[in-house]
Amino acid sequence: MNSGPKHLLPDIGRNKPPIKPLTVNLTVNDQARRITVEPRMTLLDALREKLALTGTKKACDRGECGACTVHVEGRRVLSCMTLAAMMEGKRVTTIEGLEQNGKLHPLQSAFIERDGFQCGFCTSGQIMSGVAMIEEARAGSPSAATIDVRDVFTLADLSRSEIQERLSGNLCRCACYPNIVDAVADAIMRS
Ligand code: FES
Ligand code: FES
Repeated sequence: MNSGPKHLLPDIGRNKPPIKPLTVNLTVNDQARRITVEPRMTLLDALREKLALTGTKKACDRGECGACTVHVEGRRVLSCMTLAAMMEGKRVTTIEGLEQNGKLHPLQSAFIERDGFQCGFCTSGQIMSGVAMIEEARAGSPSAATIDVRDVFTLADLSRSEIQERLSGNLCRCACYPNIVDAVADAIMRS
């Protein structure tokens, strides 16, 4: 009897103990949360599936588009490339956490006023990236578009080409780029 190619396959994973779930304590949008995750679960899936925070979008799921951008300890990260298990004790902010006392963040308002979106799938990532980008510039960080990195960088130096470069990791399939840059420029003026 021919047992076929299956016969040639190694016994990978058989008889191994099941992977143990982990408990992770973190702060999400100023609320203490406790989640139980598999060690391989991404922060993106944990936010969406464990905490029902679906404002953070899954698009490429491999670090190429920026749709899943959130803040960890105030810095922007791609949540599809970050393990939830690494978030013990960390402070995470998602698009749902930007609104304060019923008021939209100035960049959220600017996106509406400037028509910075069409389908909206990339928008939460664009806004989270934009908010962090303004703070990076405020802290004096130069970018690849900075003409002379020896000068102290200030918010006043955030030209359109600076904004474009600093948001270049966030793709928009609807090509709303000019309006997105307008929205960020408006928010910089208001900040
Ligand atoms: S979904 Fe994370 S970078 Fe595209
Ligand atoms: S608004 Fe549709 S992908 Fe950006």
